[in-house]
Amino acid sequence: MRVIIRKTYEEMSKEATALVKKRLTVKRDLVLGLATGSTPLGLYRELVRMHKEEGFSFKLVRSFNLDEYYGLPPTHEQSYRYFMDTNLFDHLDIDKRNTRVPDGLAPDVEAFCREYEEAIKRVGGIDLQVLGIGGDGHIGFNEPGSSLASRTRLVALDEQTINDNSRFFARREDVPKFAITMGVGTVLEAKEIILLVNGEKKAEVLAKAIEGPVTSLISASALQFHPKVSVFLDEPAASALTRTAYYRFSEEAEKKLGREIF
Ligand code: GLP
Repeated sequence: MRVIIRKTYEEMSKEATALVKKRLTVKRDLVLGLATGSTPLGLYRELVRMHKEEGFSFKLVRSFNLDEYYGLPPTHEQSYRYFMDTNLFDHLDIDKRNTRVPDGLAPDVEAFCREYEEAIKRVGGIDLQVLGIGGDGHIGFNEPGSSLASRTRLVALDEQTINDNSRFFARREDVPKFAITMGVGTVLEAKEIILLVNGEKKAEVLAKAIEGPVTSLISASALQFHPKVSVFLDEPAASALTRTAYYRFSEEAEKKLGREIF
């Protein structure tokens, strides 16, 4: 696991963007796994800037989002489809038909989830998955206790997630109680993963996820099983880690060798 620490959120986002750009340069039809939340906004802003200022094209890129609130239509301002369109897709030349977000109104949820998994397989799997971490250690909406082998499915949201996400809704009662999410097992099948975490609020849970034991109670800890993960942090998010000296040393070594060390 590579752990890259930068002073600020902006620097951390730029560093993550550099990795995404590098992968996109090698494979123009990259299959991206995408996350919502406030954390990846800096990365998305940089991707938009790359398109607008550098003329970088996303025409061939395909994408699959991690999750969606169950019960929200795509037109709802808090739906993840709306989030992705307004924060990223609408500002790129990506073909929207190639962007998938789980359907929060799917009448047959199980059939929908099966089809979502099949669609990922049909394009050859996710090349690069972008992740954030929830306050309770979740990735996607894989709440504590989610099987580390779980697949795309309907889940009930944890009390903490409902509280965390209530800031985006007028009233706490308006926060959906269910979601469709890729499973931990689905995420682990991505060929490469980047985890972005910023802010002191996430420091403890991040330390548990990457330096603690693997446990379904912190679904992000399952990333320890993945051979190709880069974690991008700002200093406040890294403040509870015990091995920062090693991470910095390893990053220096990467520079000397001119290659990534996972
Ligand atoms: C939501 C999403 C996650 C995201 C998490 C953190 O619950 N389902 O994919 O990582 O929130 O959000 P934020 O980045 O706003 O802290």
